[in-house]
Amino acid sequence: MQLTRTTTWGWILALLGACGSTDAGDQANEASDGADESGDDGGTVGDSGTSEGAEPTDPMGDPAVVYWRDIKPIVDARCVACHSADGVAPFPLTTYEEVALYAGAIGPAIASGQMPPWPASSDCNDYLFDPSLDNGQIETITTWIELGVPAGNPADEGAALPLLGDELPRVDLEIAMDEEHVAAPPTGEVDEHRCFLLDWPEAADTHVTGYEVVPGNRKVVHHLVARIVGPDGVADFEAQDEADGAYGWACGAGTGMSGGSGPLLGVWVPGQGASTFPAGTGLPVETGSKVLLNMHYNTVMGDTAPDRTGVKFMLEETVEQVGQSQFITDPMWPIGDNMLIAAGDPDSVHTFDFMLPAIDVTIYATGLHMHTLAEYASLVVEHGDGSTECAVDIPRWDFGWQLGYRLAEPIRVSAGDRVVLTCGYDNTEGNQAVIDGVQQTPRDVTWGEDTYDEMCLGYVYITRD
Ligand code: HEC
Repeated sequence: MQLTRTTTWGWILALLGACGSTDAGDQANEASDGADESGDDGGTVGDSGTSEGAEPTDPMGDPAVVYWRDIKPIVDARCVACHSADGVAPFPLTTYEEVALYAGAIGPAIASGQMPPWPASSDCNDYLFDPSLDNGQIETITTWIELGVPAGNPADEGAALPLLGDELPRVDLEIAMDEEHVAAPPTGEVDEHRCFLLDWPEAADTHVTGYEVVPGNRKVVHHLVARIVGPDGVADFEAQDEADGAYGWACGAGTGMSGGSGPLLGVWVPGQGASTFPAGTGLPVETGSKVLLNMHYNTVMGDTAPDRTGVKFMLEETVEQVGQSQFITDPMWPIGDNMLIAAGDPDSVHTFDFMLPAIDVTIYATGLHMHTLAEYASLVVEHGDGSTECAVDIPRWDFGWQLGYRLAEPIRVSAGDRVVLTCGYDNTEGNQAVIDGVQQTPRDVTWGEDTYDEMCLGYVYITRD
């Protein structure tokens, strides 16, 4: 279906601004280069799991890749934010013994790109604060595992790599959940998605120019999505909040409300740090608004300590360019069977291709949203001159990691360019959800808020020129 629609640009939603340097990535590359060069000097594989015993050595008598010098800096910078005693990941990677113990699982997890979690393909575009390991780092860790995980000497500890993310130059407002919440997933599951409304106390209209999430309990906060609810929407969400008597409401990966939500403010994952919006831009927030936090809690470690997450904001009364947080989708999809994913269909593809109305916009950040049958998705700009620019491409969709991606270089979209959103789903037997221990049988699926319905949304943070 080829459609030209302009209405979606009015359905505000989505994203993440941010500027900042990409130094972290560059320096990480440099740091791993040294290790790569000496990669293959080793001989046989030693006993895994310890540094003792016969280790392969280079001609100088030292293993080519060792934990303290080569591996620890990478793991500290890219894994420990989640893989620590008080982090959300199922096991810590903070000591030699821990990293060596899990080496067998780490190899495949990094080679496949499953870890660190960052589903966007780097063949599509470059993003700020991309935590992915580069090829050199993957090779360094793989070689280390092949060599039998030699420890090396703590005295030769490699220099720390810079952490990812921004810092807020100042904090103008800090808000938090009103009450504590103890994560309580549905029976038989380890994940809970719950939404909370946070008060926005500003007495005048303003703009958000940066934010930083302060997780209350790092053991359970897997990631979160923050939205702004404008004054008109507040009453509906308050009613939803009161419905089950407990603080917040069960909301799946969306808002639990069919009537939409409000502009996406940002997405946060552990280790991300602060996000500052592109220079001169900010997301407008009216007085009387609220902030909606969609929390993804993970209780795989059985943690029952309560969470009370907060957010710090940097605000500006006026900005040079007002940012707009928008979602892109075919407005026909939510109606009837317009986005039918037939039972048994191994590759049900839905595409929304539309031409931008007579305005020029700049896209700074983007993301995609789908549910559990989803397999892949992308958002691509086709310019009038025939060239294309890929904003985001997720070749292997992971429902657990709904992330936002800040483009290293903004994409300019001019009047007459086309924007193409593509989502692919697998509705065969093997790809069905397991509910209460029972794998479901395929059924026809259409658009809906429920986790077991589907969606296909693109998100962008833009300015109009
Ligand atoms: C943003 C948080 C986060 C970061 C950063 C992260 N992990 Fe994970 N990791 C998790 C979570 C949560 C799980 C549990 C599975 C899931 O939710 O995807 C996991 C699971 C794993 C697993 C088990 C995979 C499996 O087979 O199920 C391995 C191995 C792993 N991580 C290694 C790493 C390594 C190595 C790094 C750094 C290069 C890293 N992780 C960075 C959060 C993280």
